[in-house]
Amino acid sequence: MKYISVAIDGPSGAGKSTLARRAAAELNYLYVDTGALYRTIGYHIWKSGVDPKEESAVLRAISGIRVELTYGADGLQHMLLDGRDVTGEIRLPEVSMYASAVSAHPGVRAYLLEMQRRLARTHDVIMDGRDIGTVVLPDADVKIYLTASPQTRARRRCLELEQRGTPQPFEKVLEEICRRDDQDMHRAAAPLRRAEDAAVLDTTELDFEQSLRALLKTIREKTRR
Ligand code: DC
Repeated sequence: MKYISVAIDGPSGAGKSTLARRAAAELNYLYVDTGALYRTIGYHIWKSGVDPKEESAVLRAISGIRVELTYGADGLQHMLLDGRDVTGEIRLPEVSMYASAVSAHPGVRAYLLEMQRRLARTHDVIMDGRDIGTVVLPDADVKIYLTASPQTRARRRCLELEQRGTPQPFEKVLEEICRRDDQDMHRAAAPLRRAEDAAVLDTTELDFEQSLRALLKTIREKTRR
């Protein structure tokens, strides 16, 4: 049986994960948040006190660990690090820059590639990340590049952090978003860019429900489901 895959890429804070999760629930696809994989490695490197920019030290530090992506009874994606559930910890703001730094290393990307492809071979998936349409699933049935202005993304991220009980000043969040965009777009290995055959969805002027409708419309048009 041929499974459908939907690749959603874009910069941080564009609303990829919230939108993709809802769209997957509507369509009965498996939602795969690939940023969580890089966050799990970033978290481990942070905890180990290793310099995330040193590829050989990072690769040494991850050579003996077990990273697993599972789905809980709640239907949500959980990340296990050596069997321990780290789904909450990997969302700490400190982990974001570590995740971004370790994700620049080709060895880290290679380490996580097969896990992502295996999920797409065995399920209908909506997978979000930075290189899903360009590298992980170049033959995806639907490719979407989801974006919004940095200011809009920073505003949304501030709200999310506030709701999580870890508020941060707008200027700091905006600066971090711009720094992470720069790092993710200008690295040599699998940089964030729009795949040539990806549809662009800019949500700057759209609220959540409008963005969701636009996303579902694109997916349904391309898959006729
Ligand atoms: O989507 P996120 O913000 O949780 O991702 C955290 C970091 O992981 C992000 O700064 C870049 C990296 N990443 C990546 O390089 N490739 C992916 N497919 C997903 C995330």
